[in-house]
Amino acid sequence: MALILGIESSCDESAAAIIGTDRTIYAHRLQTQEDEHKDYGGVVPEIAARAHAQHITPLIEAALADADMTLNDMDAIAATAGPGLIGGVMVGLVTGKALAMAAGKPLVAVNHLEGHALSPRLVDAELDFPYMLLLVSGGHCQILRVDGVGQYRRLATTIDDAVGEAFDKTAKILGLGYPGGPQVEKLASTGDPKAVPLPRPLLRSTEPHFSFAGLKSAVLRAHQSGDYGDADLAASFQQAVLDCLQDRLEKTLREHGGMKSLVVAGGVASNAAIRAMLKTVAASHGMRFVAPPPWLCTDNAAMIGWAGAERFEAGLTDPLDIAARPRWPLDEHAEKARGAGVKA
Ligand code: KG4
Ligand code: ZN
Repeated sequence: MALILGIESSCDESAAAIIGTDRTIYAHRLQTQEDEHKDYGGVVPEIAARAHAQHITPLIEAALADADMTLNDMDAIAATAGPGLIGGVMVGLVTGKALAMAAGKPLVAVNHLEGHALSPRLVDAELDFPYMLLLVSGGHCQILRVDGVGQYRRLATTIDDAVGEAFDKTAKILGLGYPGGPQVEKLASTGDPKAVPLPRPLLRSTEPHFSFAGLKSAVLRAHQSGDYGDADLAASFQQAVLDCLQDRLEKTLREHGGMKSLVVAGGVASNAAIRAMLKTVAASHGMRFVAPPPWLCTDNAAMIGWAGAERFEAGLTDPLDIAARPRWPLDEHAEKARGAGVKA
């Protein structure tokens, strides 16, 4: 059994965790920056980087203390090396490099998206490769075939906004603050999902991709019309998202069958309505449904430690001069989805 220190700093959560290759979570610490960013309605990169620099080392110390361990007990140091806000990524990665150098331990540079993608295997020992993954976060909305550590094939992606981004923008329109996803979900539970007619972009399209920009604009117009209550708008928006996700997923599952498990990961995977829908889809395709607990869906260091553990066991360690990457797709060979201003 090997012990891995995981470090995460790619967006607005600073986090440290100690994970065993036997799936034991010895410690996980997290410091959110919600207070630092709330006045701006979104994450300010410069403020995020400074907050990471302030918090990351005390978090690592606290995680080691929680586990009653020292740096010398670790077998490797895993840090997020991208994708994300580059200032924050550099804080965590350079910290990881310095600790690896000081303690004479190998460094594992982790792709944050691989952290999300492998996180279900941390809590479900029976989840074997390959599996079908819906990765839904603040920056991504993708369907991937996961064939192994470092082996991803992107089958669908968004041609404009990520699904978490759509939740955050809807929250902003409704004056709910940042981060918006959990608050939209809460408000949606008290509204009528059929009250507001909203579009379902790319529904039944022959291409596999997602689109959410038109939905967000429609929410804005419906809100400005003054004809609808906020709860009904939130519920109708969430229903439109559910319908789009289900339609696109069903299409992919029809065309790429034979997978035993349907897995969801990323911050938006903590949404209970989305999880319930996915469970039904999985059952109708005779698949097992696997979703990490909500705390492991949103950004954290346990998933980085776990991805580090999987990579370490596969012999995949990295040199100390490895670069931080603001963009780093899981499937480097995937073609660009159509549309100008394509986001990775
Ligand atoms: O994975 P994550 O923590 O950070 C990224 O890597 O992007 O995902 C954050 C995103 C945000 O857009 C947030 O609004 C969304 O996940 N989110 C949710 C929920 N909880 C977080 N969206 C919908 N429902 C939720 N309960
Ligand atoms: Zn994330």
